[in-house]
Amino acid sequence: MNILITGGAGFIGSRTAAALVQRGDRVTIVDNLSPQIHGDAAAQTQVATSLSEHTNFIHGDVRDIDLMKSLARDHDAVLHLAAETGTGQSMYDMVRYSDVNVTGTAALLEAVTASDSKIRKIVVASSRSIYGEGAYRCTSHGLVYPGDRSPIAMDAGNFDPRCPICDQEVAVAPTPETAPLTPASVYAVTKLAQENMVLAVARAHGLSAYGLRYQNVFGAGQSLSNPYTGILSIFSREMVFGRSIEIFEDGLESRDFIHVSDVVRANCAALCADATGIHPINVGTGIGVSVETVTAELARLLDYTGDIRVSGRYRAGDIRHNIANVDLFKTELGMTCDIDFRTGLEEFVTWSRAELMRGVDSDGYARSLAELAEHGLMKGG
Ligand SMILES: NC(=O)c1ccc[n+]([C@@H]2O[C@H](COP(=O)([O-])OP(=O)(O)OC[C@H]3O[C@@H](n4cnc5c(N)ncnc54)[C@H](O)[C@@H]3O)[C@@H](O)[C@H]2O)c1
Repeated sequence: MNILITGGAGFIGSRTAAALVQRGDRVTIVDNLSPQIHGDAAAQTQVATSLSEHTNFIHGDVRDIDLMKSLARDHDAVLHLAAETGTGQSMYDMVRYSDVNVTGTAALLEAVTASDSKIRKIVVASSRSIYGEGAYRCTSHGLVYPGDRSPIAMDAGNFDPRCPICDQEVAVAPTPETAPLTPASVYAVTKLAQENMVLAVARAHGLSAYGLRYQNVFGAGQSLSNPYTGILSIFSREMVFGRSIEIFEDGLESRDFIHVSDVVRANCAALCADATGIHPINVGTGIGVSVETVTAELARLLDYTGDIRVSGRYRAGDIRHNIANVDLFKTELGMTCDIDFRTGLEEFVTWSRAELMRGVDSDGYARSLAELAEHGLMKGG
């Protein structure tokens, strides 16, 4: 197939492009090489040169409708990854987030549905963040959705959600695709808008489409320079440069970390000619790992002996836990994950340590936290 990837210079896109080329597809990438992800002009040129070796790389913007229309004429499918991705940053940089993520998706869809477009399939990167707090199990009421946590409880150090019916303790449960969608950040709202727009347009035009709800994707190659996203990147930088680590809440909050190579396999499966549905699908492992465990494992692998402080502070819009229900992932895409968290983390640490030692240190993370505090989004503690 001829496959177009928006945001294809990024972490997930560049790896998916390489895998698609290897299986025999022709790939075009459109990416604006955002400096927040790709660094300065010299670093951007390096990325563009390397991608041009095996793909048709176009330095362009997904919001450029004419460009997207011209590309829709000779591609069979599109993988839409281009996005602004920082949850915290989206809570004060709202116009930029909705412009790139929502207007960008609208521009792509106008191109896909133009009369001379050849595109018959759209795969969009959705996100676990659209669930907000996700599913929990109450011993009296079964599967429940507690929704947003109470700031009063969190200020008092009680971070766990409670049953919305009887207010008893609940245990985290895998969140199915049918869960209520209650995005808790502007980023998450834009990801939900992207998914809804793609699925609605696909249904109306008889195209096939998947909204792949990625969990926390990690692995060698993720941006180490973007201070707004990725706990593994942020904590490994802080540890390699000997700074202290602040763990928010009580450290027991957890995420479902999926290795990028499994996400690439999911993208490739959704981009197969015989995958013809119109569905949202969770892309995760179904296993939660706490921030405390992530930090301890990183410290062990990086020989970090500095200060690790559990601060009790929290960021507005953060959720407590999220773990994917992966039933559809298995049945619709035939997927199970190949790489467990510890194996993936070892590979990530080997790569990130070498990269960080070769590069330049930055105070970006401290700056990003100061920005959150300035906007009143850093609470508790
Ligand atoms: N990495 C994760 O954990 C994760 C989790 C859930 C969802 N996602 C989604 O997956 C997608 C890819 O994520 P990633 O981790 O590879 O992010 P990334 O930041 O590495 O890649 C995004 C790419 O989009 C490009 N881009 C940004 N604005 C653009 C524009 N206007 N026009 C063209 N290109 C533009 C950037 O330059 C970058 O190369 C995103 O849509 C993200 O929301 C990622």
